[in-house]
Amino acid sequence: MQTLIINIKELLQVREIAIEMISGDEMAILPTLKNAFLLIENDAIAAFGSMDNCPKINADITIDATGKIVLPSWCDSHTHIVYVGNREQEFVDRINGFTYEEIANRGGGILNSAQKLNETSEIEIYHQSEKRLQEIIQQGTGAVEIKSGYGLTVESELKMLRVIKKLAKNYPITIKATFLGAHAFPKEYKENHTGYIDLIINEMLPKIAKENLADYIDAFCETGYFSVEETEQIMEAGKKYGLRSKIHVNQFTAINGIAACVKLNALTVDHLEIVTDEDIMVLKNSETMPVALPSCSYFISIPYTPARKMIDAGLPLALASDFNPGTSPSGNMNFVVATACIKMKMTPEEAINAATINGAYAMGISNTHGSITIGKKANLIITKPLNSYYELPYSFGSNLIEQIILDGKVMA
Ligand code: NIG
Ligand code: FE
Repeated sequence: MQTLIINIKELLQVREIAIEMISGDEMAILPTLKNAFLLIENDAIAAFGSMDNCPKINADITIDATGKIVLPSWCDSHTHIVYVGNREQEFVDRINGFTYEEIANRGGGILNSAQKLNETSEIEIYHQSEKRLQEIIQQGTGAVEIKSGYGLTVESELKMLRVIKKLAKNYPITIKATFLGAHAFPKEYKENHTGYIDLIINEMLPKIAKENLADYIDAFCETGYFSVEETEQIMEAGKKYGLRSKIHVNQFTAINGIAACVKLNALTVDHLEIVTDEDIMVLKNSETMPVALPSCSYFISIPYTPARKMIDAGLPLALASDFNPGTSPSGNMNFVVATACIKMKMTPEEAINAATINGAYAMGISNTHGSITIGKKANLIITKPLNSYYELPYSFGSNLIEQIILDGKVMA
């Protein structure tokens, strides 16, 4: 099966030689090809180049992309799209002056979502979650990481991870699963942290590993949630089962969690709304990717990750949506890219690099996703006719996507 895209106005994120990720000053460079073609064979990118060298073949499908831009699908490395119901009441409570912390302290927040999920059947959770997955596919996401963490019991954490596995089986989007049992302490363990951590390490993890339900492990390392020491215990335990860490850290407070994550070679540190100079130093020359979640900052009115400072210090940065019912009820990566430009002063080139190749690295899939490279998966966005790719962040409220290709197949 061959699909040939011709007359592409501009093909973005062209990497003839595959790269793992991109950092510092180099993030400002987005390699592109104007007046290009791209050939897909089955589910992979088979060739691309200037229209002058377009192969004269009779492909099964030919798409004329005159005036349009083609780029790799968004790689959203941090979401919680498996959840039940929503938290719109908390949204209104925040408008009326309550903080995220105050709402959580009176039983709202993560524990509110956990209660809803515990009362809901696996099939119903699946149906509610697949609507969100379908939505982000239409919005151009071609690879997504999904976390558990609204179960907080052995049964419900397994239930969430099974839903993620089923979504991965039934949809052409690439999915990575992360076990986030350490998202919050359930009420009955409020005064017994050791008891809950034991449950995670000795009950949940062995079962999850046996059913092969997770690729990564996560913890919410934050004042009032999991301390640095508790987070380290979770990371170490995950490591024993081959699960590398992707950690929620520095969302509200800086408590030296980043240093612990780097020490244990975490794949990513996510949120980073509060970042110290020391945190930046620790991340330099590590293999840990910092991940910013601008929709969360926007939605709950907290500071944005200091992207400029971090990139100018030579760090890489990935962008993700954090799609979840409490702090970011949106998985729209177009909005994430636009908000990174508008609020974090990232250039369009930096933001697109952060949401494609660096997002892929943040899910451990940059060898197969995140750039236009021969042999990589043909997960692509074809835009509507645009003046230039600057319009992607500029026209932040418009839907600029015309067609989606996933696994080499035209979706819409
Ligand atoms: O990434 N900070 C921790 N976890 C989520 C929020 C979870 C929730 O409020 O339901 C986040 O922001
Ligand atoms: Fe999150």
